[in-house]
Amino acid sequence: MIKAMNGLFVTFEGIDGAGKSTHIDSLAHAFREQGRVVTLTREPGGTPLAEQLRQMVLNDPMDAMTEVLLVFAARRDHIQRVIQPALARGEVLLCDRFTDASFAYQGAGRGFDRDILGVLEGWVQGGVLQPDLTIWFDLPATVAAQRLSGARAPDKFESQPLAFFERVAGGYAQRMASDPARFARINANQDAASVWSEVDRAVRSKGMVS
Ligand code: TYD
Repeated sequence: MIKAMNGLFVTFEGIDGAGKSTHIDSLAHAFREQGRVVTLTREPGGTPLAEQLRQMVLNDPMDAMTEVLLVFAARRDHIQRVIQPALARGEVLLCDRFTDASFAYQGAGRGFDRDILGVLEGWVQGGVLQPDLTIWFDLPATVAAQRLSGARAPDKFESQPLAFFERVAGGYAQRMASDPARFARINANQDAASVWSEVDRAVRSKGMVS
């Protein structure tokens, strides 16, 4: 597996309700305006097989280890079929969640062993593939819970208690502390326009859009 030299790999993270979606679309638009070819994708998912695994992970009860094995199986298929080929073609690959979500949700949220997650990360990502930039939408769990209440029927994760999301948020903070250069932390506890201006500033400061 080769490192993403030509393409640009950007991931988006945050607890459920942090409000990533509209900004991912806006960023895709900004890159396209610069003449870049953009692939928009998500995890778990992004391939027919991985989308089937997503349905199971999001809906079926299972223990944390099964969850881990399924999200990394989905990730492997996604990397092989979508992520690596797009990066090799020099495209911009925008991915709604990636391995940081496994550390945050399965690791911090569900208490699964982080060393094992680290082994799987190295294994599935060939020891080299990492996002060029991870945009972390940081929002207090209490605010996210208010935003989610009244939204569509919650999936298995969205129906977790507040304490779970507090742990997940802590998991993201730890991941950022372990690799600060890769992360841009966005204060997601603001109106959408202010959040977008932080996202826009993050990609500009990295020289990704001019
Ligand atoms: P999400 O990305 O929030 O999609 P939607 O906007 O459609 O709800 O949902 C994906 C869920 O999967 C989210 O709750 C986090 C969870 N997840 C994990 O638990 N581990 C992982 O490795 C990944 C990628 C996601």
